[in-house]
This record gives sequence, structure tokens and C-alpha cells, in this order.
Amino acid sequence: MTITPKITPGTELVTVENVGMTFATDGGSLTVLENVSLTLHEGEIVALLGRSGSGKSTLLRCIAGLTAPTTGAVKYKGTALNGANPGVAMVFQSFALLPWLTVQENVELGLEARAVPAVERRERALRAIDLIGLDGFESAYPKELSGGMRQRVGFARALVVEPDALLMDEPFSALDVLTSENLRGELLRLWAEGDIPTRTALIVTHNIEEAIQLADRVIVLDSNPGRIKAELPITLPQPRDRRSPEFEALVDEVYSILTGQPSAARQPAPPTSSTSPFGAEGTEFDIALPPASTGELGGLLELLAARGGQEGLAEIADELRYELDDLLPLVDAAHMLKLAYARNGRLHLSEQGRRYAAADLLRAKEQFATLAVEQAPLVRNIVRILRRSENGFIRSETILNDLRRHFSDADAQTQLDTAIDWGRYGELYEYDADSDRILLPTHPDAARAGQTTGASA
Ligand SMILES: Nc1ncnc2c1ncn2[C@@H]1O[C@H](COP(=O)(O)OP(=O)(O)OP(=O)(O)O)[C@@H](O)[C@H]1O
Ligand SMILES: [Mg+2]
Repeated sequence: MTITPKITPGTELVTVENVGMTFATDGGSLTVLENVSLTLHEGEIVALLGRSGSGKSTLLRCIAGLTAPTTGAVKYKGTALNGANPGVAMVFQSFALLPWLTVQENVELGLEARAVPAVERRERALRAIDLIGLDGFESAYPKELSGGMRQRVGFARALVVEPDALLMDEPFSALDVLTSENLRGELLRLWAEGDIPTRTALIVTHNIEEAIQLADRVIVLDSNPGRIKAELPITLPQPRDRRSPEFEALVDEVYSILTGQPSAARQPAPPTSSTSPFGAEGTEFDIALPPASTGELGGLLELLAARGGQEGLAEIADELRYELDDLLPLVDAAHMLKLAYARNGRLHLSEQGRRYAAADLLRAKEQFATLAVEQAPLVRNIVRILRRSENGFIRSETILNDLRRHFSDADAQTQLDTAIDWGRYGELYEYDADSDRILLPTHPDAARAGQTTGASA
């Protein structure tokens, strides 16, 4: 593109001031962001890292002015937003292209919204298409393109408006490894050479290496609620070698930040209604169960045992080809159950963890059952309710309804599924999918439940 903005490094472009975001849920509320403040300066790329559900996309939507925060403010060049942020454009993980429009028309869309005349729209779109390597595909429809080419359209559509700030929400995570590597490299080059008509960029990712490769500054968001946990300047010169000791040390540092402090429990929920089967003790339901399967957890502990009791988290993720979102719930679960603990980017087996990894299946299950009841509030609650109940079962819908007070619908379901997996593995209770009931193992129907749905491994 011919128009290269004059960048004055350090100038504040976008400021986020004490932003908070709370959503209403079934009979409760969910605070997703709390007291988030950050500034995007000219000349820098900032990466936003955090677990799934930590509020990264929500924060981006607030910065773009697509959603108004519940508290605090977002400012563009010092002026608080009133609707869409005029200085930003977004790139989405899902590309978000209109299938009935050609590449050219999709790219022009960004300009139509800003009432740019047709001739100028056409010229600018062609320039953006050229810049991003889509030359020759102007009249193609999205379905004719590979994922990588579709995302190029996504980039062209954002860049054509020449935004001061480019916001990217996991732009590479729907692409295969090579395609994303290729596109990421090209964008970095364009940015470094000043060919991208934008002054600052914010990229959301849950890929630690990607963050460290791209960014001048990495911001780590904590979960439940999303708060800024750490800010890390990355001063390694570009291009960065992922295998250099400095790079690897930074990866370990981010792992250490992400796993260092267990996330604080969610805020106390509003008083439980009298219809809740959990009574006043129901508040324990707001402590999230890490969505880890018992099978994977066992595998992770065995891997640690095979390594003499500890291993770097980056190495584990590499070896298992796990994304952050696959690995962190397992680490959280191991931590919650006191089977392992993370320190300085490494995961260590605890004494209990060693015993667990060495035990035969029956003993492992017994040990798991004890730990789950002691350490996992949701599992403990379900066991307590079942033991108190006259008929020895509870409808899982009842539990789900209570969980929906503290979690989004999808997260509530994940909580329930995890609790069922854990409870079954520990043989604390059974689940009968046909009748949608959770039962004590001693319940007359429990054997049938085990047969019809298969005992969980
Ligand atoms: N409109 C909404 N109403 C209710 N809850 C919402 C809404 N939007 C997001 N949430 C909830 O807010 C939390 C944070 O969501 P968000 O999409 O911002 O997370 P994220 O960090 O982008 O996660 P991911 O890495 O999975 O993309 C989630 O629990 C989500 O279910
Ligand atoms: Mg997201």
C-alpha cells in the first residue's frame, strides 16, 4: 500500500481504562472482565494471552466499540467511544466473510460502511488485495479459497480502511500449522517494512510461541474474572528464533505466569434460592472444575513419572501436540487434586501424584475418589446430595440449572460433564443417560446405567 503512516513511537492511540464486563446469566451474573487497563501505543504489537474463557474476545469487542463495557471506558486518541471505534479494524478467527460476495466485494465492505465513493473503494480494495498476496483472486468467492487465502481476505478487509489499530482475534488458529506460519511471517515482514497502513496491533492468541514471536509486549489475562495478570516486554530482535535459549526462557516464563497462581475462585454468587437442592451450601458450585478428563489426567501423571517426576510445560505441550487449552485444564486438575504442582514453567509430581501414577487401576480409582471428594467442590456436593436424598438419585438437569447461575450455558454443561466423568471414574456415582439421572453406585438402577452408557475409563 502506498500510504505509510508516520509512526511516532510511544504515542497513545487506544486506552482501556478500568474496564469491567458483567453478563446476566440465569438467575445470576457472570463477571468476565474486571478492572482491565491497558494502552496501545504507536509502533508496537501487543499480544493478549489467556486461557479459554478469560475474556479476550470480550475485551477486543469492547476496544472495537462493538460492546460497551459495564464499567470503565475505552478511548481512542483520548476521546471516549460512543459506538464503534473509528480507529480500529478487526480480523476474526472465523474469517467472517460473506459467502455471496467476491473477494473484491468482501474487501470493499469495510469501506462501504465508511461511505467511501465507489471508484475510490475499488482502487483501495485492489491495493489491499495486492498487498496481502491475493492478486488474481479478486473475482473468486470465499468457497473457492483455502483457509489461508480466506484469512488473507479477512486481513485485506481490515487493512483497507487503514485503521490506526489492527485488532486480531486468534487470526491464525483456524489454519494449519504451515499456513499460519506462512501468513504470520508475511505479516511480520509487511509490518517491519512499514507497508501495513496501521500504527499499532493487538493480537489475541492462546499460543505462547505465537505471542512471543510477534509481540513487543505480551499481556497475560487471568481468568474468572479476566484481569491483567502480567505484562512482559519482549525485546528480542526480529526475526526471532524459536529455538534460541532466550526465546525458550520467555516461553517458560509465560507458562510460569499462566500456571503460577491458581485462579481465584469466582465471586460469591447471589444467595441461593430456596428451590435449589443445594441450600446455602450451594455457593460452592461457583468454584470451577477444570475441564480435564480422568483418562488424560492419568496419562499426564504417567508421563511425569516416566520423566523422573517433572518436566517443562512447553516440552509436554510439544510432545503431546497440545494447545494451551488442552494442557492448562489438566494442569489445573492435577493441581486441584494435589497430584502435581507447577513451578517456574515446570510440572512436578507430588508425593500423592507419584503414588497415583504407580498404583494399579483399582487403587488409583480409590485414591482419585478420595481426592475428588476432598478437593473438588462440585463432586463433593453431588456425593453429599446423593447420600442425603431419599431415593439415591438426582436429575442432572437440577445440577445444571444451579450451575447456570454461575456459568454460561456452555460452561455449565462442561462443568456437569466433567463432574460426571470424575465421579464415575472414582466410582462415587453413576450416570444414566436415558433417565438423565445421577445415581449412587448402590442404587438398583446403577448397574443398568453402567451398562447402557458404558463405564468411563
Ligand atoms: N454475550 C454474552 N453473554 C453471556 N456470557 C458471555 C457473553 N459473551 C461472552 N460470555 C462469556 O464470557 C466468558 C469470556 O468469553 P470470551 O469469549 O471473551 O473468552 P475468550 O478469552 O475469548 O475465550 P476463547 O479463548 O475460548 O476464545 C465466557 O465464559 C463466555 O461464555
Ligand atoms: Mg475468544
